[in-house]
Amino acid sequence: MTLEIEKLEGELLAQLNAADNEASLEELRVSALGKKGSVSELLKGLGGMSSEERQVFGPKVNGLKNKLNDLINEKKIALADKALDERLLAEHLDVTLPAKARRQGSIHPIMQVFEEVATIFADMGFSVKEGPDIEDDFHNFTALNFPEKHPARDMHDTFFMQPNEKGERKLLRTHTSPVQIRTMKNEKPPIRIVAPGRTYRCDYDQTHTPMFHQIEGLVIEEGVHMGHLKGVLMEFLARFFEVDGVDVQFRPHHFPFTEPSAEVDVRCDRSGKELKIGTGNDWLEILGCGMVHPNVLTACGLDPNVYQGFAFGMGIDRLAMLKYGIPDLRDMFNSDVRWLENFGFEALFSPSITSGLSR
Ligand code: PHE
Repeated sequence: MTLEIEKLEGELLAQLNAADNEASLEELRVSALGKKGSVSELLKGLGGMSSEERQVFGPKVNGLKNKLNDLINEKKIALADKALDERLLAEHLDVTLPAKARRQGSIHPIMQVFEEVATIFADMGFSVKEGPDIEDDFHNFTALNFPEKHPARDMHDTFFMQPNEKGERKLLRTHTSPVQIRTMKNEKPPIRIVAPGRTYRCDYDQTHTPMFHQIEGLVIEEGVHMGHLKGVLMEFLARFFEVDGVDVQFRPHHFPFTEPSAEVDVRCDRSGKELKIGTGNDWLEILGCGMVHPNVLTACGLDPNVYQGFAFGMGIDRLAMLKYGIPDLRDMFNSDVRWLENFGFEALFSPSITSGLSR
């Protein structure tokens, strides 16, 4: 019996030595320590022995069982370590290799111009406000003093939604001016904001798309007058077009929400191939503006005898076309990557953000 145990031990240890992967180790474990394993059979055999025999062989068989168990577990860990080492060696990375070139995106001219305009106004103490694209009649028209039958409310200009149960029709805002209303209703003067965003009108040609972009300006403070409006706009136009100064022309105009109202033209030169802003004998229409109408102040709960203010609005897309020589507005929204590679900008928030000429 002793010989038998020693022989078995010898065999098992040889098998253990030979096992060089987890599967063969497991096979060994089952063949020795499993239910019908060789060591388990020996253990079962102890039951049929006399107590003297059991005293002699019991510790031997149990010793073999424990020894084998420990050795198998040790080897299991060693094999796993070895496998890991091998993997680490095989899969090592050379971090000094150059990275794969990534295709770089570019900033859309609209976003570039948004940032340029917002930065110039931020320097003059304006903050940026946003409003919803889907508006209601009150914010887009009524509070802005549009008469009930004003043509801008007409189906031909405005995209209306289906009426709800109460018969109210939401609409896609036709301008950024509703942000004026939302701001005046929510904030106390002094107010100095610019509101950039998408606007919608049913129109489509080289200089019109159904979705376009505007930026609105609003200042409400006691004692504000048209001189302030003119000063702010002249400062803005000179900085935006990167000229020392611009001649501007305030042409009387009509907007329901401002009184008096004006359209602003800048001096320009159309004689050469490229349009030049700031010199020449021509005028180019740039934006609409005026002093906030007393009815608008009243609709927003402000006393027109205390507060005055001015507002202005301009097309971002048009500014981008003028500054960066983009001939067709429709191309801006065709999502053609080649177009973007040509007209796009490298990085937003560059130090030269207001001199975007370094395209
Ligand atoms: N909302 C006007 C438009 O879309 C522009 C404007 C804004 C005019 C503010 C005056 C004051 O045409």
